[in-house]
Amino acid sequence: MNETIKHILARRSIRKYRSIPVEEEKISTIVECGQYAPSAMNRQPWHFTVITNRKVLDRISEENRKVLLQSTDERARSRAAEPGFDSFRGAPAAVIVSGDSEASFAAADCANAVENMAIAACSLGLGSCYIASFKIAMEKPEGAFLLRELGIPKGYRPLYALTLGYSDETLGERAPRRENTVTFIR
Ligand SMILES: Cc1cc2nc3c(=O)[nH]c(=O)nc-3n(C[C@H](O)[C@H](O)[C@H](O)COP(=O)(O)O)c2cc1C
Repeated sequence: MNETIKHILARRSIRKYRSIPVEEEKISTIVECGQYAPSAMNRQPWHFTVITNRKVLDRISEENRKVLLQSTDERARSRAAEPGFDSFRGAPAAVIVSGDSEASFAAADCANAVENMAIAACSLGLGSCYIASFKIAMEKPEGAFLLRELGIPKGYRPLYALTLGYSDETLGERAPRRENTVTFIR
């Protein structure tokens, strides 16, 4: 099996990290892999916000927590009330990928970028987790200040984030792949 396939098959979502920083050189390589993802009409309708300051991640989490505590959904409220609540799963770093709202395929293009980065991270010995629940507060009008603070360009909206760090998780068995999801026409 070649190295690329090995890493695609080995990648797992990591939600517990060692408290050591990720080397900036590794993060730059990972983001470059995101920038080389395919995009519709090669529009590259993305913006990458690399956050290695845990205080900034905590601030975003705290805003999310406040929103969730007001939720009508009981499960969301109790999750937000847990002492260790963290939208970034304890990672020392995260990359937020925002999409150009004018680009028809921005969601697909940005998703491609995130997956490229996740595989690159795995190949560099790093854990990662694809996250969508980090933007709860940013999607509210009262959370718009976060977009400004993070320098997300006008006309772009946060879609996904990838947490990054050295794994401190012991993983169980992988969930089996769903059956009957492939048809070969020969
Ligand atoms: C679009 C998308 C959004 C996701 N959002 C979250 C999230 O908010 N929080 C989280 O812990 N995991 C999130 N995940 C990770 C999935 O839960 C994970 O990929 C799935 O359970 C399969 O596990 P694996 O990545 O280890 O193969 C997300 C994944 C995708 C593709």
